[in-house]
Amino acid sequence: MEKILTLGIETSCDETAAAVLRGGRELLSNVISTQILLHQKFGGVVPEIASRKHIVNIMPVIDEALTKADVNLRDINQIAVTFGPGLAGALLVGLSAAKSLAYALKIPLVAVNHLEGHIFANFISAPKLEPPFLSLVVSGGHTALIKMLGYNRFELLGQSRDDAAGEAFDKIARVMGLPYPGGPEIDKLAKLGNSTAIDFPRPKVDGYDFSFSGLKSAVLNFLNTAQMKGESINSADVAASFQKTVVDTLAEKTLAAAEKFKLDKIVLAGGVAANSSLEKTLREACQRRGLKFFYPSKILCTDNAAMIACRGYYQSLEKIFADSTLNAVPNLGL
Ligand code: KG4
Ligand code: ZN
Repeated sequence: MEKILTLGIETSCDETAAAVLRGGRELLSNVISTQILLHQKFGGVVPEIASRKHIVNIMPVIDEALTKADVNLRDINQIAVTFGPGLAGALLVGLSAAKSLAYALKIPLVAVNHLEGHIFANFISAPKLEPPFLSLVVSGGHTALIKMLGYNRFELLGQSRDDAAGEAFDKIARVMGLPYPGGPEIDKLAKLGNSTAIDFPRPKVDGYDFSFSGLKSAVLNFLNTAQMKGESINSADVAASFQKTVVDTLAEKTLAAAEKFKLDKIVLAGGVAANSSLEKTLREACQRRGLKFFYPSKILCTDNAAMIACRGYYQSLEKIFADSTLNAVPNLGL
């Protein structure tokens, strides 16, 4: 039997993306049109601008994904699209494109949760990976520890009570005068600094929940106080010390959950998974404890449609389809 071709569509934030996936894990194309430069001068994503740019980009991006995969629209068997969480106007552009194409081609539509999609990026990067495993999802909007028991069985162990990890990176970077998105900038700057130079308070939250707003305020206070006193700061040390505090907190909770729930595979997901220190810290800790560690290739860490196509494929195996009444759910949880 010919393998199913899934067209994935993702427009939840500031990347317009489309991808073609054969079967569950063979990526034929992965096109990402980023709007970062457009939003950079505002220091963050401007929702109205994002929606308008998605409208301009969506069809050319889908066309490019089909061309790169060397397939026609008629060859596509199903369409998987992000319906939340994300910016309402941005989500609606991808949804409208996906619904119209599915209707015109008379093929099934699959509604994908963006956060679940991030986890599934790992199935493309590691074709042999299978549940059960423990996943740490760290993105711009979410921080969560998830027990993944099957392809369609998730159990949320804990999540951020306030700021997401990526959000803290972006806000601190902004105050330090670094461009948006701040995560990769802090990552780069931290390589030049001393991570034990400043003792920022470690967030203390019970169980498997996270909280990064206290740490964020501590770093912002540190920067403001230095500015008011006219003292110069070593911004590389600030970046390195802040990053170490976040990474240690994430790693500690993840390792504790793996031990408690006797899971021997740890799977990192989301934009902050691209952080070199987080990846290194978890990889080394897993090695020491005899755990297997997975994280997606860099291009699959941040927002893309390949992960959406992959998540959609595994939903379609259990006939979890959507219909034309599908709407955007901006605050969709796990
Ligand atoms: O998953 P993602 O692309 O979008 C959301 O679903 O939110 O994540 C974007 C987040 C941003 O906050 C960005 O600063 C962060 O991921 N990020 C990083 C790195 N690369 C991206 N944070 C830390 N270190 C990085 N190398
Ligand atoms: Zn994302």
